[in-house]
Amino acid sequence: MKTAEVRKRYLDFFASKGHRIVPSASLVPTDDPTTLFTGSGMQPMVPYLLGEDHPLGSRIVDSQKCFRAEDIEEIGDNRHTTFFEMLGNWSLGDYFKEEQLSWLFEFLTDKEAGLGLDPERLYITVFHGDKNNDLPKDTESVEIWKSLFKQKNIEANEVEVGTEENGSEIGLEGGRIFYYDASKNWWSRGGTPDDMPVGEPGGPDSEVFYEFQDVEHDPAFGKKCHPNCDCGRFLEIGNSVFMQYVKKAEGHFEKLPKENVDFGGGLERLTAVTEDFSDIFKIDVLRSIIERLEDHSGERYENSENKNSFRVIADHIRGAVFMISDGVTPSNSERGYFVRRLIRRSIRHANLLGIETKKLKDLVSVVANNYREVYPEVFESQEWIQDEIESEESKFKLALDRGLKEFRKIIEKEDKISGKGAFKLFTTHGFPFELTEELAREYGKEVDKEAFEEEYRIHQEESRKGADKKFKGGLGDTGEMSVKYHTATHLLNAALRDVLGEHVEQKGSNITPERLRFDFSHSEKLTEEEKKEIETFVNGAIERSLPVSYSEMTLEEARAQGAVGVFEDKYEEKVRVYKIGDRSTGVVSLEICGGPHVENTGELGKFRIKKEEASSAGVRRIKAILE
Ligand code: SER
Repeated sequence: MKTAEVRKRYLDFFASKGHRIVPSASLVPTDDPTTLFTGSGMQPMVPYLLGEDHPLGSRIVDSQKCFRAEDIEEIGDNRHTTFFEMLGNWSLGDYFKEEQLSWLFEFLTDKEAGLGLDPERLYITVFHGDKNNDLPKDTESVEIWKSLFKQKNIEANEVEVGTEENGSEIGLEGGRIFYYDASKNWWSRGGTPDDMPVGEPGGPDSEVFYEFQDVEHDPAFGKKCHPNCDCGRFLEIGNSVFMQYVKKAEGHFEKLPKENVDFGGGLERLTAVTEDFSDIFKIDVLRSIIERLEDHSGERYENSENKNSFRVIADHIRGAVFMISDGVTPSNSERGYFVRRLIRRSIRHANLLGIETKKLKDLVSVVANNYREVYPEVFESQEWIQDEIESEESKFKLALDRGLKEFRKIIEKEDKISGKGAFKLFTTHGFPFELTEELAREYGKEVDKEAFEEEYRIHQEESRKGADKKFKGGLGDTGEMSVKYHTATHLLNAALRDVLGEHVEQKGSNITPERLRFDFSHSEKLTEEEKKEIETFVNGAIERSLPVSYSEMTLEEARAQGAVGVFEDKYEEKVRVYKIGDRSTGVVSLEICGGPHVENTGELGKFRIKKEEASSAGVRRIKAILE
């Protein structure tokens, strides 16, 4: 089957079960500051899973565009892509396990309305339970799966696996249904029950795997093969999450008021298995890009030693086309940089295939045509997308030409390319480290990776200091979210001094519309309790809806009032002091700062610490978000 056929069958199938079809949301999440890109179908659905009424009812189905930035470096194997579509169906407090698993099985195996997969090739994983968090084993799903397989005359035996390591010890053992621990069969945005933050919903899940009979187990991935083995014999094609719990405290979960289902299945993978392709790049929407590359390069994908390069370009260009169409153009900004990397890596790999530059834009029309029916906006904006890609190609080519001169100079002088040399290529010529490494390899030389990383770290430190300076004078980006994070940063600073002590001083701050990052003097790792106290302090100030105001005064006056902030002589005569709270509510924060800030803390949302780590000696770093 072709991709469009699989997508259509899925949407039609669930529509016939009373689901309303919704269009894909943008790759750029609108109200979710937790991630840069939409990375799963459920992301736009979170408010409804938490109980908000969906305007279209309690049964929803869609195909959502997704981008997983963290996978960029991984592309090249037979099954990963950065961009993909996730087929999703949701029960928002409507049906539960029985209907979900039965419908899914019907969709996967039915020849008329579904994909017609051979049920013998399907393997199932389920949640083993988690004693520490008092979360039960999902025996219900197992019973349902057994009876579904039985209808196909397949006896489905269950196997207790537990951890992934254990899986490679025991292997398949003639089983069809496998119990794994929470690292494999629990789903929440924050990971396992232990990792997820308080207040986050989650639940046990049941995954379906497809077995490729032409792929032999590769012992490099573990002694024996099992569904969660990474050797390529099994491919995960769908995940039914039974979103029914919310974490109330560490080790304590309660049932959500409504039981939900969140199903997600990769469209490309589902398409691949309809053809029994263990290589996802053989499906129509990727294969057609590869064919165009074959024309340009004269090489054949199947026998190419550079198969990896064909895959990287096909994946990256498709990803870049969809990103640009959603308004993310190549740049050095947080999102734009990913598009830049997609294009620049593609150019490099095109060169490895012997394709001259300026051919990549030619692939845009292939992508646009593939998706003409479903995403007409891509088709309609293809000229603009081509221009963007072409202009990025030109920029990179210029950088490359200049950089190559520099590279040759370095390679003549140095036996092993030094960290400094590689770093200069990186900063002044935009050479990703891997490019320098690849080029060096062509000359039979190595690059000092450790030294490069050290240079990189020093550079980060410097830019952080630069960002601090900007911060002292005021906030650089005054968009709505950044301003909120700015005020939250003041609250965090106050909370740290309150919880950890007056020795805490701001050492750095960096704000984006997605998160805040704050460095401060303190020598020990924060305990869970301290983190919780800090969150409670900040959220308390938010819940009390405190007014935020400022007044201008001399540095001396600010000091006398007990304001925190950096007292530096380069400040002008008068400084601004921002105050959170007032006489009637009590003042929780007084800080010298250029602003701007929100008018009232009630606007901020919920504050959550995402990460706490060492930044340098005696300095800790917190990353936090507003939800
Ligand atoms: N949320 C689940 C996932 O992303 C299912 O949609 O895998």
